[in-house]
Amino acid sequence: MQLTPLHIKGGRALSGEITVQHSKNAALPVIVATLLSCEPVTLHGIPRLSDVYTILDLMAHLGTQHKWVGDNSLELYTPEIINTDAPYALVSKMRASFIVMGAILARAGQATVSMPGGCAWGPRPVDQHVKAFRALGVTMTEDGGNFDARREASLNGHFVFELLTVGGTHNAILAAVLGDGVVVLDNASIDTDVVDMVEFLNSLGADITGAGSNTITVRGVAALRGGSYTVIPDRIEAGTFMMLAAANRCKLRVRNVRPDHLRAVTAKLQEMGVQITEDGNTLIVDATGTELKPVNVTTQSFPGFPTDLQPQMSALLATVPGTSVVQDPVYPDRLTHVAELHRMGANITVSGYTQVIQGAKLHAAPVKAADLRAGAALFIAALTTEGETVIDGVQYLNRGYERLAERLRGIGANVQQHDMALAMD
Ligand code: EPU
Repeated sequence: MQLTPLHIKGGRALSGEITVQHSKNAALPVIVATLLSCEPVTLHGIPRLSDVYTILDLMAHLGTQHKWVGDNSLELYTPEIINTDAPYALVSKMRASFIVMGAILARAGQATVSMPGGCAWGPRPVDQHVKAFRALGVTMTEDGGNFDARREASLNGHFVFELLTVGGTHNAILAAVLGDGVVVLDNASIDTDVVDMVEFLNSLGADITGAGSNTITVRGVAALRGGSYTVIPDRIEAGTFMMLAAANRCKLRVRNVRPDHLRAVTAKLQEMGVQITEDGNTLIVDATGTELKPVNVTTQSFPGFPTDLQPQMSALLATVPGTSVVQDPVYPDRLTHVAELHRMGANITVSGYTQVIQGAKLHAAPVKAADLRAGAALFIAALTTEGETVIDGVQYLNRGYERLAERLRGIGANVQQHDMALAMD
């Protein structure tokens, strides 16, 4: 859906506190994991984001009934799987939905899921998902843009991922939870979102050990019960607000944070000269009264510096005098923010996945987000400049940041989004 642009008048110091939503990237697999239980499950901390609505549409097609029972609480119930396919129209809206394959396969023995294809910033391969399924006894065929997965028995065996993949680890775990096999996943992702889904599944009676280490063992169980669970805070949103504070050279209290999920980000901002203090689940981020220093950043899997904060970090460093180097080998093409930041006066040279950034004073300009985190980079940059920046492509921001304009206004930002009727006047 096309949304009206954000109008941001920057240049004023932000202050106060901002509360981080619960994690989009943890919520999506936890919602999918409810497919494994035939009893009702209540989830808390579910952000109201377009990606969440997309996965709920897909799950309705599969047989899940859902009801919002609070602002961010959702009841889900899948008494039976009524369709075992995930069609292109639904999967192509959000590539992360490919992990329904493991859940449908576990519950129904067969799944047909559209190939996810690429996204705005490059290919999103699923070869590791497919190799894991095959190694664990699943028959996988490809036909007409779809993967068909079938199992005669419970998944069983050992698979070593060739690289760290969050979605691949989710998918293989989901496929192995029900039954009587034993699955060992080596070189598994240790990402917080994998740990959260495993804690949720174990709370319903699954038998999964080793999450948070590189070896995860899934022992099949006959069935999962119902239950309730609260999803972890969003470390990417927290990091986005930390970078906003630094770019704005202001002091913000960022609430509802797991500081242990943000160590790499905190360390990098501290290296730049930002003061960061922990106060329970609040981080006080203070970039006042100090000259920030340029730094070099390379993205990695968790617990390294996240690719999902690379565009925001690039926007911040575009405002810091001196030369910084940002490299994103995790997603080498994740660079749609660069041309838009150029429009705002940023000095960024790109070679492969490397950005060489010379700090400059940015200015307002009309810009367009082509994906979620590029949109975040743009609102960070816009809030540092004098004048009015108009950000188009707001539908991408709505995939990851709940009630963004309202929350930014809460820390003193001048952010307006005219509704459609007003915009057409
Ligand atoms: N990869 C392969 N083969 C595979 C799977 C992955 O080569 O079969 C590669 C990818 O190309 C990438 C790396 O492995 O280079 C890591 O990809 P991963 O599978 O971990 O990514 P994902 O699970 O598809 C999630 C997040 C992304 C985030 C990445 C990396 C969700 C819904 N998505 O994607 O989040 O960038 O992990 O941390 O959890 C976002 O929120 O903006 C976003 C894109």
